[in-house]
Amino acid sequence: MTATPWFVPLLFLLVLSSTGETIGRPFYPLPSKLDLKDKQPLQMSRPFNIAHRGSNGELPEETAAAYMRAIEEGADFIETDILASKDGKLVCFHDVTLDDTTDVGERKEFEGRERTYEVQGENVTGFFVVDFTLAELKSLRVKQRYKFRDQQYNGKFSIITFEEFIAIALDADRVVGIYPEIKNPILINQHVKWENGKKFEDKFVETLLKYGYKGAYKSKDWLKQPAFVQSFAPTSLIYISNFTDLPKVLLIDDITIPTQDTNQSYWEITSDSYLAFIKDYVVGIGPWKDTVVPPENNCLTTPSDLVAKAHAHDLQVHPYTYRNENQFLHLNFYQDPYEEYDYWINKVEVDGLFTDFTGSLHKYQEWTAAVSKGENGASNLLHKISFMISSFKGGV
Ligand SMILES: *[C@@H]1O[C@H](CO)[C@@H](O)[C@H](O)[C@H]1NC(C)=O
Ligand SMILES: *[C@@H]1O[C@H](CO)[C@@H](O)[C@H](O)[C@H]1NC(C)=O
Ligand SMILES: *[C@@H]1O[C@H](CO)[C@@H](O)[C@H](O)[C@H]1NC(C)=O
Repeated sequence: MTATPWFVPLLFLLVLSSTGETIGRPFYPLPSKLDLKDKQPLQMSRPFNIAHRGSNGELPEETAAAYMRAIEEGADFIETDILASKDGKLVCFHDVTLDDTTDVGERKEFEGRERTYEVQGENVTGFFVVDFTLAELKSLRVKQRYKFRDQQYNGKFSIITFEEFIAIALDADRVVGIYPEIKNPILINQHVKWENGKKFEDKFVETLLKYGYKGAYKSKDWLKQPAFVQSFAPTSLIYISNFTDLPKVLLIDDITIPTQDTNQSYWEITSDSYLAFIKDYVVGIGPWKDTVVPPENNCLTTPSDLVAKAHAHDLQVHPYTYRNENQFLHLNFYQDPYEEYDYWINKVEVDGLFTDFTGSLHKYQEWTAAVSKGENGASNLLHKISFMISSFKGGV
């Protein structure tokens, strides 16, 4: 996948318009103008490269720029968290509060807007997404979550809506899937009300259907517009299965955290009997990777049987989150993210990976694909060298 030039001018445009009106509007008229027939299909032969919150290792998370970069870098799926504004609009944002990744704290007009709400059994204080209208959310500017990442794009990009996110995926020049999360459904349904008694999950599915996302895993419809729906709340996934066949993934938190809706323990939802039950509704699980292979003193120990158990129930496993930086890499990997990918793909045999650095995972997969094509050594070497040269020229 060599670098195509369209991303650069778009990013530039976004930077230029960061104080103007245009940034709040969708980037493209929907539905996509591109002819789906001409698009390179989704790769189905190796684990999925899931761009966690876009290429947020490089650009502020869940912004248009982060998603466009991820597509440019070879993502199979772009991943996002869906929350709702006070006026019921669905937006892409990870935290229930705006404090850590926007400039809300510096904005005089929002003084006094902080609240304390109970979120998953804990009192949380901050500026809650559910207390801001879409117009107010759009006036905020997003920033990097981590101090050790590139800060130069702070303040340049706005929060995007679920529809804008979909537009970015549909307008990619190849088939790129979406991987939206039904985020904190309990909290959202407590604070946001829609007409006709509709709830958050209904609006979520309505949006997907509106833009043509439908069909079971690997069906013709799905391959045209691939999507996985993810949630930590099994009740929401079971509920929406009455309204959409799209493949669903049950996210699994740390072993100490019960499910937010059904208050079930980690051990309960990873048991054989629970996997046998939930597989009627989901195609896979998305566990935190440290629960799959528990670390001790920052070194990985023996893998648990979770992947084997899930595979025995014909469930995929998409662990989260892979990050390049030293502070996130366990010591087994010599501070080398490629070593980590090699371990999880070839030893643990996962089916998809949520990564903050889509470009790294993509390059790893391209390099190892060149090595394992099964041709003779010299041809492999030439392939590898030509790939190195072309990616160097691409300058990504
Ligand atoms: C949250 O705060 C309220 C009001 O102070 C209190 O009644 C409630 O018990 C607190 N909840 C938790 C989980 O601490
Ligand atoms: C799905 O629809 C059926 C038939 O209307 C209903 O009986 C069932 O309760 C629904 N399931 C959920 C989880 O809402
Ligand atoms: C959740 O389950 C735990 C353990 O069974 C229990 O102690 C706790 O009270 C439950 N919490 C709620 C909100 O039901």
